[in-house]
Amino acid sequence: MQSFAFVNPTKLIFGKGQLEQLSKEVRRYGNRVLLVYGGGSIKRNGIYDNVLSELEKINAHVAELSGVEPNPRLTTVQKGIDLCREENIDFILAVGGGSVIDAAKAIAVGAEFDGEIWDVITRKARPTGALPLGTVLTLAATGSEMNANSVITHWEKNQKVGWSSPFSFPKFSILDPVHTFSVPKDQTIYGIVDMMSHVLEAYFHKASNTPLQDRICESILTTVMEVGPKLVEELENYDYRETILYCGTMALNGITQMGARGDWGTHNIEHAVSAVYDIPHGGGLAIIFPHWIKYAMSENLERHVQLATRVFGVEPEGKTNEEIALEGIEQLAQFWNSIGAPSRLADYDIDNSRIEEMASIATVFGDYGNYKKLNKEDTEKILTAAL
Ligand code: NZQ
Ligand code: ZN
Repeated sequence: MQSFAFVNPTKLIFGKGQLEQLSKEVRRYGNRVLLVYGGGSIKRNGIYDNVLSELEKINAHVAELSGVEPNPRLTTVQKGIDLCREENIDFILAVGGGSVIDAAKAIAVGAEFDGEIWDVITRKARPTGALPLGTVLTLAATGSEMNANSVITHWEKNQKVGWSSPFSFPKFSILDPVHTFSVPKDQTIYGIVDMMSHVLEAYFHKASNTPLQDRICESILTTVMEVGPKLVEELENYDYRETILYCGTMALNGITQMGARGDWGTHNIEHAVSAVYDIPHGGGLAIIFPHWIKYAMSENLERHVQLATRVFGVEPEGKTNEEIALEGIEQLAQFWNSIGAPSRLADYDIDNSRIEEMASIATVFGDYGNYKKLNKEDTEKILTAAL
């Protein structure tokens, strides 16, 4: 294992009806609240009304920032920062999926930063603090509800950048599986791909002696693969929603990466694709990940064999390690395909005309990947294989 320190200060409040904890939690931080949400799903499924009723209990003054885009944009973050200052906000409440929560994290840090938030996001400046943030999660996918990460798009510059700071952990997150019932089939599928991808990113690392870390990752993957297809067929099944919601949080709250630093190259490539084509994150990952695994296979073939045999049930008899590893990748791609995820960039009408541009974006901060170091040329090869 590599040496590590682990901190995760987010209070996770999980279960049916737990929104009733909201007023009590918000009260700790103040009562001038900025409510941040997306394009209106929370109004259609009733969560918005229930949240407002909770905030009324503490007589909160509520300002709203609506319309946070999937792949949230810097311009929206800036609007939120301005609102915090104009309205003298003392608490931010994000109600939505990863995009809403990520935008709210940037708003929370930006509101307490004397300068451009983009400089913090692009690591040119250090954050100095944050307004307290709480979340009500409505979509199982990113793990943003219990981590410090945020991914923001500067559309004019075609940059989608992931960043993180100790200030951006939510103070609390409320997760009620019922809140995810209305997530449509396609977004449910993208969420499943995303959480599996987080585990796979963590699984491919350079540390040695990580038997428990490996088993934790394998358990999350096998659980998602067992329950995910059932959920896609029965979107309002409580038990399936509950399991997948819990898996999504566990996949990226830090527990899989104690003592082992994951790769994260595929996420970097996907963010470059989304920065140019604005495609759903999980859709992009389903297309790119199998090609990345194949490209990275020679780094530590035994690790790939372990994944193939333990998670994808590949029978090793009579096969070379390379054949076993390749069969594992094939099984992963087939699984994602079988639940309805895309498998080629062409599925999003992406051709080879902007490959070089995407590879430049992916390498804007230099070579990347903690398991397999990739440069611009490698990135072009992976994207070309995914056409
Ligand atoms: O905007 P609304 O109307 O709310 O609709 C959203 C949106 O259209 C809808 N939705 C959410 N909850 C719903 C619902 N529709 C019906 N019922 C509900 N209960 O779903 C659509 C997608 O929402 P979004 O928040 O964009 O999805 P997701 O949670 O997958 O977040 C994706 C973003 O997170 C970033 C991605 O890059 C992308 O920008 N990521 C963030 C990470 C993190 N903070 O740790 C890690 C990830 O790897 C990822 O990069
Ligand atoms: Zn992701």
